[in-house]
Amino acid sequence: MTFDRSVKIAPSILSADFANFGQEIQAVEAQGADWIHVDVMDGHFVPNITFGPATCKAIRPHVKTVMDVHLMIAPVDPYIEAFAEAGADILTAHLEAGPHIHRTLQAIRGAGCKAGLALNPGTGVEDIAYLLDMVDLVCVMTVNPGFGGQAFIDLSAKVRRLRQMIGDRPIHIEIDGGVTPATAPLMVAAGADVLVAGSAVFKGGSVANPAPYGENIAAIRAAVA
Ligand code: DX5
Ligand code: ZN
Repeated sequence: MTFDRSVKIAPSILSADFANFGQEIQAVEAQGADWIHVDVMDGHFVPNITFGPATCKAIRPHVKTVMDVHLMIAPVDPYIEAFAEAGADILTAHLEAGPHIHRTLQAIRGAGCKAGLALNPGTGVEDIAYLLDMVDLVCVMTVNPGFGGQAFIDLSAKVRRLRQMIGDRPIHIEIDGGVTPATAPLMVAAGADVLVAGSAVFKGGSVANPAPYGENIAAIRAAVA
């Protein structure tokens, strides 16, 4: 993975057909996805359950781009090795998931993954000032994590401040939640370069009819161009 700040669209398979992840990933990559965003939920840190490392491992051979794994779990540390072995390129943990995020980020890089740090909508960016040299990505949640299809929370000022704090460091700013052609331009203008989108990418399409995936991705790209 080489670093650049061009805009990348990362469809979340939370909005894909759970019985058919392999083909869904192939379809959405063929239709222009830059990364594949994988939402892991534990029913404890967030009020919903998705899947764990075994599913990540099973889908890994289908991902030809970047496997971006968003851990909405607590605790994180006991599972880092398993997600690294499952083939995550990026492993993102939440600042709010425990008292020792510094240790968690060290362990993620130690396991050979890029380290991501996610922030709930209510968390301030000043809290991560001493973590910036340990991360490859900051994920700014623009919904409260747990479900796809929620309404976007405009955190433009937070993203702008984060972009200033990052300066020249090679750190991606990822936006997750409620990204559409209407909301994406606000976030890119504020400094984001990775746009996660679940419902806005998968709506109207299927493995049998993947063209809408491409149209949906193109609509987001056109909006931010
Ligand atoms: C929310 C997840 C998101 C979600 C985004 O907890 O982390 O990745 O799938 O879905 P949309 O784009 O539908 O808001
Ligand atoms: Zn996510």
